[in-house]
Amino acid sequence: MSDAERQKITIPRLAAMKARGERIAMITCYDATFARLLARTDVEMLLIGDSLGMVVQGHDTTIPVTLDDVLYHTKAVTRTRPLAHVVADMPFMSYQASAEQAMLSAGRLVKEGGAESVKLEGGMELVDTVARMTAAGIPVMAHIGLKPQRVHQMGGYKIQGKNPDTADQLLREAEAFVAAGAYGLLLEGVAIETAAQITQRVPVPTIGISSGPDCDGQVLVLHDLLGLNPDFAPKFVKRYADLGATVTTAVQTYCTEVKTSAFPTAAHGFHREANQSLLPIGEKVRMRGRKP
Ligand code: KIV
Repeated sequence: MSDAERQKITIPRLAAMKARGERIAMITCYDATFARLLARTDVEMLLIGDSLGMVVQGHDTTIPVTLDDVLYHTKAVTRTRPLAHVVADMPFMSYQASAEQAMLSAGRLVKEGGAESVKLEGGMELVDTVARMTAAGIPVMAHIGLKPQRVHQMGGYKIQGKNPDTADQLLREAEAFVAAGAYGLLLEGVAIETAAQITQRVPVPTIGISSGPDCDGQVLVLHDLLGLNPDFAPKFVKRYADLGATVTTAVQTYCTEVKTSAFPTAAHGFHREANQSLLPIGEKVRMRGRKP
């Protein structure tokens, strides 16, 4: 798509994409450098995911991530004024205590962070909260299925909706969130058939991750698809590049060149002004007219 054709991706545009059967590409993004690179692609949605806790901060789970952490990274992304729709993730315990807490936390992500919507992980227990948030004008994407913030409760990261009962429960949750005003659903770790059924059943876009091919769109963690995390290769990730190897090779070459004095050379530096009296006369003449 050319720059002139690119338009701001709004929630009504995302809804129209679902209606037309057009697939939606979403990706996580945590900083301005990547936000600028992603602006050159057709990606429609950027997620400042609480996965930043694992990808950027080095935690083992997303649980330690704070609202201020998500706010910091959201600001870094929105400063680049992306045309993609910006979704900020609500971290653990920034919304579960009450609808008031959820609205105040989401309000900060939208007002201070510049996010255009928020995402929260939940089930039936959060439907009323989402109804309050959407009634107050906060666009919400509901994240159902595998909920990484509940890793301890689940005893690991487990695929959801694999039998008729749990599939029915997920369908009911999906419909309840839509009735509460959610503009989209994120389906994580949902059995393929269940994800397909939910996608057919609801009028809003479904975005899948490890949920098979039949959702309206797909999300991946940027660092996973770029191969920046060489030790992480789960079945649901497709690696489109091997930037991990590119980075280590480049930095190792840099180290070697520094140690062997191959870098920097004079070509990478700046000469002193020609008329500076510290230079010997011959050197002054040689340097005349050079600009840094
Ligand atoms: O935090 C995140 O990046 C997410 C995606 C895995 C969907 O929630």
